[in-house]
Amino acid sequence: MILRSPLYHTPRNPFTEDRALETFSDGALLIADGRIGAAGDYAEVRAAHPGVPVRDLRGGYLLPGFVDTHVHFPQLRGLGSLGLSLLDWLREYALPEEARMASTEYATKSASEFVRALASHGTTTALSFGAHFPDATAAMFEAAAARGLRLIGGMVLSDRMLLSELHQSPESAYRCSKQLIDRYHGRNGLAYAVTPRFALSASEAILEVCQTLLAEHPGITFQTHLNENDKEIHEVLRLFPWATDYLNVYEKFGLVNERGVFAHNVHASPRELECMAINKAAVAHCPCSNAALGSGIFPMRQHVNSGVKFGLGTDVGAGTGFGVLKEGLQAYMLQRLSGAGYPLTAPHLLYLATRAGAEALNLGDETGDFLPGKSADYVWIKPPEGSVLETVVASAESHERVLAAIFTLAGAESICEVGVRGRVVWEISH
Ligand code: GUN
Ligand code: ZN
Repeated sequence: MILRSPLYHTPRNPFTEDRALETFSDGALLIADGRIGAAGDYAEVRAAHPGVPVRDLRGGYLLPGFVDTHVHFPQLRGLGSLGLSLLDWLREYALPEEARMASTEYATKSASEFVRALASHGTTTALSFGAHFPDATAAMFEAAAARGLRLIGGMVLSDRMLLSELHQSPESAYRCSKQLIDRYHGRNGLAYAVTPRFALSASEAILEVCQTLLAEHPGITFQTHLNENDKEIHEVLRLFPWATDYLNVYEKFGLVNERGVFAHNVHASPRELECMAINKAAVAHCPCSNAALGSGIFPMRQHVNSGVKFGLGTDVGAGTGFGVLKEGLQAYMLQRLSGAGYPLTAPHLLYLATRAGAEALNLGDETGDFLPGKSADYVWIKPPEGSVLETVVASAESHERVLAAIFTLAGAESICEVGVRGRVVWEISH
């Protein structure tokens, strides 16, 4: 199958390389057995593969599927709870909703709404926090597999602070995580992530459990929160008086390495950045959440200069929705507002929404751009008839302008088709 459409992707890193954005006005994506056979100019791809059927998708734009590097399955209904900072927001909004996931029936319904929301916003790969309950976390995996999304996730582990009904003992944290790893890791595009909520709600015993699980399962991911909010950081340093800084808590348990994805890192010290770079740990940058909770402005330039990998995360429900495009725009806005902000361009935003996320999740060989051999994960954006986006792109004088308009104006209503491994996981027609 050949998809014929204008096509944009970032096979190179715009933070370090020139001409990172590759564009084809009359483009083609050749898909064979769920993989990308070729991406390029339509006439050339067609001439090389004359017998292959063509779907004409002109009138829209093909981009690689988006990668959401940080999202919470049990927080969809927490969206829109504005006005509070992290710890108050958790107490008032997020945690009571997370406690409802004790009901597997409720969790199963929520899981299907969750994966539908990911797909309908163009997300083809997500690293997601599960629930504090094993059955609810299983429901998340089942729903992702049923829809065909690529999802890395794990049961959330905590044994202090928060709500007591969300706690596990270190023993049950180990047992439940292990059962979920055995059941889901490596199945149908699913993978497991050991997921302590954050150091604030984790005893040393539970962090040791995380270390053990990672040692026993070399292919699994690690995810948690880091350096999000001043009060949180203050409390972490009080609870772990031996720690030199927040990251040092995770470091002590061997959790800072290339398998780790740390959400936020808004208040990172030079030492922490250096440690993350040396150990190849990644950051999930969640600009909508950082603004909504008033957490602070992400020190992007420092991450870039230190060589710390980062992708975009929606952080639903502290964030403002499932749109990775919107995160790109918000990242741009906040860097504009920050004195020493990084001057992002449209190619940076596309890279952050796709390939950077894939690399942060160690999936750079599998997804993130349209290089041959990768999984055929794509988003087809078509401006709705009569929309402002339609008017703006019709008169845009360059591909970069079209791309900037997509980041500025395209919401879920413009995401007309989404494919993972060449299979359609979402479509709308208008
Ligand atoms: N830190 C610990 N838990 C959470 C959460 O659910 N959302 C955010 N934004 N930060 C957290
Ligand atoms: Zn989060």
